[in-house]
Amino acid sequence: MNLILLGAPGAGKGTQAELIAKQLQIPTISTGNILREAIKNQTPTGLKAKDFMDKGMLVPDDVIIGIVSERLAQDDCKKGYILDGVPRTAPQAQALQDNGIELDCVVSIEIDDAVIARRMTGRRVCSACGASYHITANPPKAQGICNACSGELVTRKDDVPETVQNRLAVYHAETEVLKDFYAKRGKLVLVNGDQPIADATRDILAAIGVQP
Ligand code: AP5
Ligand code: MG
Repeated sequence: MNLILLGAPGAGKGTQAELIAKQLQIPTISTGNILREAIKNQTPTGLKAKDFMDKGMLVPDDVIIGIVSERLAQDDCKKGYILDGVPRTAPQAQALQDNGIELDCVVSIEIDDAVIARRMTGRRVCSACGASYHITANPPKAQGICNACSGELVTRKDDVPETVQNRLAVYHAETEVLKDFYAKRGKLVLVNGDQPIADATRDILAAIGVQP
């Protein structure tokens, strides 16, 4: 199963990707998490990406296409994968297609901007593994500590309201067109992201034809 999760910042891509990946036993590839790790480790990619991410702008396509090609070539992707947060522009989608990537389904998680703006203030992420939590909608078992790896939970630098607004504007200007791109290829399904997490997971599994 090769799956893409599309959706605005805060739509729930990361949250749903982790849950679906567990169910399907395939890896999640999150370009956001890969870039944050690169910034933490001060790699050349991280140094290139940092300013763009801090401002809520997209990292250049060539950087992203390189990261994704390298990751998809790894052994654990042979049985399938979930792409979270990529592609985000028409050139990225075209590059996947030109590389012969066959997709089973593209799920767009739909949600209004106003709901997202409220959600982001409560998000906490694991500084070690990138897992996403919410102080009320999806709290960790122990406050401030990741359920999965015991890493410290922190607030993402780009979750301040002004940067969230920039990221939403970029989503509408650059990424939303991908819904048409995949609809034309018969791959797109829409799922309501403004419902409890478990209900959205149920709807995604139904949309991709997997029994919960
Ligand atoms: P990235 O890390 O991908 O951020 P994003 O797309 O802005 O999306 P988020 O991670 O903010 O949201 P999400 O949809 O994963 O939501 P989550 O599940 O966490 O990218 C960051 C930056 O990296 C970009 O701005 C760009 O600079 C760069 N970048 C990355 N990929 C790129 C690419 N391909 N091209 C160019 N640049 C790229 O949920 C959000 C919150 O809501 C959490 O607190 C969660 O617990 C809560 N929540 C989730 N679902 C529900 C629900 N159903 N009900 C209530 N709360 C919920
Ligand atoms: Mg995410």
